[in-house]
Amino acid sequence: MIKPQKINASVLVLTGLLSVQSLLAQEKTVNDGVFTQEQVNAGQVVYDSQCRTCHNKRFYRDTLRSWNNQPLLYLWETIMGTMPADNPGSLMFEEYTDVIAFILHEQGFPAGESKLDPDNGMEQISILSP
Ligand code: HEC
Repeated sequence: MIKPQKINASVLVLTGLLSVQSLLAQEKTVNDGVFTQEQVNAGQVVYDSQCRTCHNKRFYRDTLRSWNNQPLLYLWETIMGTMPADNPGSLMFEEYTDVIAFILHEQGFPAGESKLDPDNGMEQISILSP
């Protein structure tokens, strides 16, 4: 039988480890090459057909400014849940991801080796003001 105080101790150690880990992981930003050039190219096609009629580049700059330091995943979820305003949620997950890569690239953030993936670490990437 496991003694109660033993369980408490291991839970404490575990939560301690987890919070250290999330602190370390949170260090990534949109400036660290968190999407690929292929995603940018694919995102431009989506943007031109689905987003361009209602928003210009300036709009995205202001949006990123107001999202400064927020996890990129939250922006992805917001866009997925509300955009395109005339037909929310109508795009595929991948298209929403690609269009975010395009928007970030347009605002001067660099493409890199790792692919942007809403199921993999996007809550640990912070948005920066362009
Ligand atoms: C039919 C017009 C229309 C289309 C198409 C459209 N939007 Fe929007 N979008 C809006 C409106 C209206 C708002 C809310 C008012 C505002 O902030 O200007 C908005 C808000 C946003 C925001 C701000 C969200 C926030 O809470 O900060 C983002 C980002 C955005 N849209 C991205 C996109 C993307 C990406 C696409 C293409 C997939 C898109 N929009 C297509 C009309 C549109």
